[in-house]
Amino acid sequence: MRDNGRVDAGESNAGESDTGESNPSDPAQQSWYDAFGGSAFFARLVSSFYGYVAQDPILRPMYPEGDLAPAERRLRMFLEQYWGGPTTYNDERGHPRLRMRHAAFPIDTQARDRWLLLMAHAVHEQGLEQRLEDELWTYLVGAAFAMQNIDDQDSPASALPLIEPPTARS
Ligand code: HEM
Repeated sequence: MRDNGRVDAGESNAGESDTGESNPSDPAQQSWYDAFGGSAFFARLVSSFYGYVAQDPILRPMYPEGDLAPAERRLRMFLEQYWGGPTTYNDERGHPRLRMRHAAFPIDTQARDRWLLLMAHAVHEQGLEQRLEDELWTYLVGAAFAMQNIDDQDSPASALPLIEPPTARS
């Protein structure tokens, strides 16, 4: 979790007092949430991502609900809260405990990388300023790696019996 939800002030004005007020004209006072573009930004990002999930043969079957809208809303609320926006996620769902909440879904390297690929498209479409895109992307990559809960050697494919190659048969 980000502990302050504030945009890094940069070298020139780092360390100045933080009133806790969001001030879009001064990056030192602006939350990441505001810098990204507030609720409209997160709504666009997550809507685009779930548009891709809806058509994805690896991720779509992992979602237990037929309707993806509630899952889309949960991800949006979580990301808004993480980046310093409204804390609706916590109010409705309690502490995120995301690794625990993902334990029911077998996430291997393939699922993790597909999640990141679809999210990369969604992030890129938003046309963020480079430093904001970098900050968001670094976080998402770390979070996706943390959510992986199956090592490749534990995946069902590796449990298949070893079949002798045809040349070894007489
Ligand atoms: C690595 C690949 C990932 C896969 C395959 C995956 C898949 C899923 C699935 C199937 C659900 C259940 C749908 C629901 O009921 O909400 C879910 C929920 C959720 N995911 Fe992921 N996820 C991944 C990574 C992430 C990452 C990186 C984040 C955060 C940055 C995230 C945030 C969430 C949130 C907030 C929920 C709703 C939790 C709740 O309140 O119940 N997921 N995910």
